[in-house]
Formats: sequence, structure tokens, C-alpha cells
Amino acid sequence: MASVSWRPVEGPLVKELKKNLSKSCRDLVEVHPGRLVVYIYHKDWYQRQLDFSVKKDDVWVITYPKSGTTWMQEMTWCVVMGIHHQQTSLPLMKRFPFFEWDSMIAPDFMDEKLCADDPCLPGNTWKIMANMSSPRTIKSHLQVPLLPKQMWEVKPKIIYVCRDPRDVCISYYFHYVKLNGYKKELSDFVEFFLADIMPFAPFWSHILDFWRRRDQENILFVRFEDMKEDLLSVVQKVADFLGKQLSAEEVIRIADHCSFGSMSKNKAVNNETLPAAENEKAKGLKFMRKGKVGDWKNHLTDTQIKAFKEWTFKHLEGSDFPYYQDYE
Ligand code: A3P
Repeated sequence: MASVSWRPVEGPLVKELKKNLSKSCRDLVEVHPGRLVVYIYHKDWYQRQLDFSVKKDDVWVITYPKSGTTWMQEMTWCVVMGIHHQQTSLPLMKRFPFFEWDSMIAPDFMDEKLCADDPCLPGNTWKIMANMSSPRTIKSHLQVPLLPKQMWEVKPKIIYVCRDPRDVCISYYFHYVKLNGYKKELSDFVEFFLADIMPFAPFWSHILDFWRRRDQENILFVRFEDMKEDLLSVVQKVADFLGKQLSAEEVIRIADHCSFGSMSKNKAVNNETLPAAENEKAKGLKFMRKGKVGDWKNHLTDTQIKAFKEWTFKHLEGSDFPYYQDYE
């Protein structure tokens, strides 16, 4: 195995980013080789995560953050378990655990408002995965080299979702304001995003590592934009991929259940109870924010759009990835 090292993510931009975040999410490291950005606690979990026992009938949803993870998780869960399953109202983090959650929080993290078995508390998510009955549904944002080794031998079902980076960046910005206490403006955040210093960066290699594997039988590559355009077709595609026979009525029910309006009201998935930053900027922001394609047009300046273009073209050079290059 190539030797792995962890280095603090450094530089003037990082300093600026850290100054403007809540304490709990400030410390990031880069894993080398690859310069893969993760939380500082990753080092303590790396080997356990790499050695995690994967099962053939696992269903993984993997994404770069803010690409429609929650949306695809809920849809996948309903396809796997059935829309009428009695646990549909359980919090998503219990039904569809977040694989690397424990490596994103301090081992002594405590919040009195949470029950002792809350998946947000240290060690609980790992326990949920250990005790989960099959088929397990698991979410991850980890980059390919950090995922369990068995992923590539056992070949569970993997659904990868990507989204236009310009929309991801806007969504990530509001997420950071709401949940991570981010105090600066979007213009600064765009610089951080394009510098690939955010958790689970680099953005393009995250996507391209799955894009290259998209023809493997156990991998389904989906775009957020496909889900927006025709949710019924994506539900059907996910069902076919997972070998589930659904009636036309079930497909419609799942698509309805996963509409933006319905998910926004659904406490099991709308993340309204996640502890939000206590400041004016964060007030009133919702995790289920807009759920639109192209919201970046309302936020990015011409200069920022040009910066996205240069960054995109640089990283896509030599790749056959065809999307998100619609620049004049
Ligand atoms: P916006 O911030 O652009 O609204 P993730 O789950 O990966 O964190 O992604 C969150 C993004 O997906 C948010 O984007 C959220 O609104 C959007 N989203 C979640 N459920 C959705 C749905 N049912 N329909 C459309 N967008 C949805």
C-alpha cells in the first residue's frame, strides 16, 4: 500500500476561511497522495474506514457535498425498503447512516439536547452501521482512495450523484452560513471553493473518479439536473439498477414523496433539527433551501463565472466528462 500522510490544509486562504468558521469545523487536513481534504479526525478513522466490511447487497449513495445527497438517499431508501415501510418517518441518519460522520466530529463532542443514541454523537453512527440489517443503505462523501478497500472487490451497488459546481458552490455557501457559522461573503467563499480547500475537495477528481467507473455494472451515475428534469424516470432508473420491480403507482408515490415541497415538510429528512449557527446571517436559512438548477445565475458575478470556467476547463482537460461547460 502506498504510504499515506496527513498535512494541515494551509495557506492564506485557509487562514481566512478558518477565522470565519465555528470552532468545531475549522480544522481540515489533506491526505496525500491526492491532496484529499478531510476533517482532522480522519487520521484516527482512516484504517477502520479502509477495512470496513462491505456487503454485496449494500447500497451506497456517494456524492461531493451539496450535490443532492439527501434527495437521492431518500429516494433510494424508498425504492429499497418500499414507500409504505413503517420506518420511513425515522431520521435519515438512522436509516441511511453517514459513513464517515465519526471522523468529522471531535471524539468528545457532546450536545445535551441530543439523546444518547443520536447518530450525531461520537461512535453512534459506526455502531448503527455495525448493527444494521441487510440491505444496508450508506451515505458517503469520501473520495475514492479513502473508501473501504472492499468496495472495489465486493462491488456493492453505488449510486453517485453529481451537480453543476456553480450550484454546488452556492448551496455549500448557504450550508456553511447556516450550520458552520461562516461569517464572510459569498465572494470569499467562491475563492475557497475554487481553491479546493473545502471538506471532500478536490471537486473534479471526486466526480471524475466515479465518472471513469460509470460503466461498471454496480455503479449508477446520476446528475442532480436529471432528477430535476424528470424525477419519475430517475426513480425508475434507480429501481431498475437495484433490481426492484415497482408498479407505476409506486414510482409516482416515491417521486411525490421526494418532491422538494414534500421533503421540505418532512422532519425525517429536512435537517431542521441540526444545530444551526446562532447569528443573524444564519437565521431563517433552511437546509432545504431552493432545490433549483441554475441558482448560481442569481449570485455569481461575471468575474466569478469566468473563474469557474477557467477552473472547470483546467480540470476537465483530457476528460470526456461532457457536462457543466456551457460557457459562451
Ligand atoms: P440548494 O441549497 O441549492 O437548495 P445535499 O443533500 O447533498 O447536502 O444537497 C442539498 C441540496 O439539495 C440543497 O440545494 C437542497 O435544497 C437540495 N435538495 C434536497 N432535496 C431536494 C429535492 N427533493 N428537490 C430538489 N432539491 C433538493
